[in-house]
Amino acid sequence: MKILVTGGSGLVGKYIVDELLQAGHTVGIADLVPPAQPRARFHHADILDLSAMTDVVQGYDTVVHTAGIPHPLNDPAERVFNVNVNGTFNVLEASARNGVRKVVFTSSESTLGFAFMSDPMEPLYAPVDEHHPLRPQDPYGLSKVIAEQICRTYSARYGIRTVCLREPWIWVPEPEPVQFYRRLVEGYDQWYKNLWTYVHVYDVAAAHRLAVETDLESFHEVFFITAAENWTGRESRELLRRFYPGVTEIRKDLTGPAAIISHRKATLLLGYIPRFSWADLPGMR
Ligand SMILES: NC(=O)c1ccc[n+]([C@@H]2O[C@H](COP(=O)([O-])OP(=O)(O)OC[C@H]3O[C@@H](n4cnc5c(N)ncnc54)[C@H](O)[C@@H]3O)[C@@H](O)[C@H]2O)c1
Repeated sequence: MKILVTGGSGLVGKYIVDELLQAGHTVGIADLVPPAQPRARFHHADILDLSAMTDVVQGYDTVVHTAGIPHPLNDPAERVFNVNVNGTFNVLEASARNGVRKVVFTSSESTLGFAFMSDPMEPLYAPVDEHHPLRPQDPYGLSKVIAEQICRTYSARYGIRTVCLREPWIWVPEPEPVQFYRRLVEGYDQWYKNLWTYVHVYDVAAAHRLAVETDLESFHEVFFITAAENWTGRESRELLRRFYPGVTEIRKDLTGPAAIISHRKATLLLGYIPRFSWADLPGMR
């Protein structure tokens, strides 16, 4: 397949590009900055420029839309919202104009609202799945909820297949972030907001490839893409009892350290099975 990856020069995008190349696809990258190492054909393009995106998308049958602002902590709210919402609109509109068959969107677990909540909330049940209400309180989570709706709208209007992948914190095998992850694992009691949910970037890359390659029945789908276990190594039920005592509906499949946000739907429909854990990251054991 001919696949354009927006944000393919970024922290996560580069792993997605490598996975797609290894699977034999023809890949192009659309980004504001070139990739650190030459990987694929590079298009210098701003997702906020609809006319430029309309040109760049030409000739690709699938778009993986990963470009965006990855959290609300470093940028003003209006920039997070603008890039993530208007950028996604432009990618979908450019795709519709060019007859693109499928757009795979890198969404976020932040759609749920827990990760950046300022007013405390508890999950309504566990494990959390795609039926759980989305209650973002911050511009990033909000931007991803609206971006998912843009995907749903374009599927309905133009029959473009859209697949939204909601990842939690994506952990990468690179020295600087690994030092930080070590502190998280040690200080898990301070870092409870995102339900101790993470995913290894290799599994994220595989999930994007599966979303590209799998023909789903529905024109629009949303999936959580999480690791098999929480990053504390502790019993998930015990963590909920201590930090979220209001969660009374806990389903029987939440056993041991299983992830509190479930990827079961992705396993059933995409064949996604997490193969890596934080213990596979160099320097974490
Ligand atoms: N990193 C995580 O833990 C995480 C978790 C869940 C979801 N995500 C999502 O994954 C995606 C990638 O995140 P990341 O951590 O790799 O971030 P990143 O900042 O490393 O990469 C984002 C890429 O998008 C590009 N970009 C930004 N604005 C652009 C624009 N206007 N036009 C074209 N390109 C633009 C940047 O140049 C960069 O290469 C984001 O959509 C983010 O919301 C990330």
